[in-house]
Amino acid sequence: MHGLFYRLLNLRCFNMAKQENWIAPSILSADFSQLGKDVKDVIASGADVVHFDVMDNHYVPNLTIGPLVCDSLKNFMVREGVNAPIDVHLMVKPVDRIIGDFASAGADIITFHPEASEHIDGSLGLIKNAGLKAGLVFNPATSLSYLEHVMDKIDMILIMSVNPGFGGQAFIEQSLEKLRQARQLIDTSGRDIRLEIDGGVKAENIAAVAAAGCDTFVSGSGIFGKANAADANRYDSIIKQMRDALASA
Ligand code: DX5
Ligand code: ZN
Repeated sequence: MHGLFYRLLNLRCFNMAKQENWIAPSILSADFSQLGKDVKDVIASGADVVHFDVMDNHYVPNLTIGPLVCDSLKNFMVREGVNAPIDVHLMVKPVDRIIGDFASAGADIITFHPEASEHIDGSLGLIKNAGLKAGLVFNPATSLSYLEHVMDKIDMILIMSVNPGFGGQAFIEQSLEKLRQARQLIDTSGRDIRLEIDGGVKAENIAAVAAAGCDTFVSGSGIFGKANAADANRYDSIIKQMRDALASA
C-alpha cells in the first residue's frame, strides 16, 4: 500500500518530444545486489532514462528480471526522488499478458519485438490504453515495414544494434543505415517519436550513432562496465564523455 502512496506523489513529468538526447543506461550490466543505488547514482550523474531489459529464456536465450523488480525499483526511485522514466524493453513471447503487470509496476515506456506478438496493433493498444508510451523493437534482420500501418500508435522506435539476449556484444555497423531509414520515416510522419539504439553503444561510437539520427542511447557495459570505484560519483566521467561526444556530433 505504501508503494501506491509514493506513486501518487510521483508526477510523470518526462516529455517524449525530440528536444534532447537521452542517455539510457541498461541495468542489465548494473550490480543487481545494489540495483537501487546503481540507478540512483547513474541518474544523479546525468543519465536520463532507466532501460529495463526483460528476457524470458524463450524469445531470447537468457533470463532476467520482471514486474516484481520493476515495482520495487520504481518505489525506491519515487521514495528517493530519482526522476527518470523506466523504459521496459520486452524480449518475451507472448507479449500481451505481461503488459498490464508492467503498467502496474510503474513502467513508463514499453517496447516489444513485432515477431513476438500475434497482434501488433492490439499489443500497442494495450500499452497505450494503460497510459504508457509504446514502441516497436527491430532486430538486426527485422524489416522496418512493420511500422507502416501503426506509425500513429508509436512513441518510440528501438533499433537493435546486436542480436538481443546479452549485454557486452559488438555493435553491428549496418545499424547506422537502419537508423537513417528510421529517422526519415519519423521526420516524414511529423510525429514526436523517439529513435533509440540498443547494443554495443560506447562513448567511442555514440557520436556516429547520433549523426545517423538517433536521439536515445542505450548503453549497458559501456556505462556500468566503466565504473570500479564505490563512490556515488563513479558514473560522472563516463556520462560526461558521452555528453561531450554527443555535443560534438
Ligand atoms: C541486449 C539488451 C541490451 C543490452 C545492452 O539484448 O537489450 O539493452 O543490455 O548492453 P550493451 O550496451 O552492453 O551492449
Ligand atoms: Zn535493451
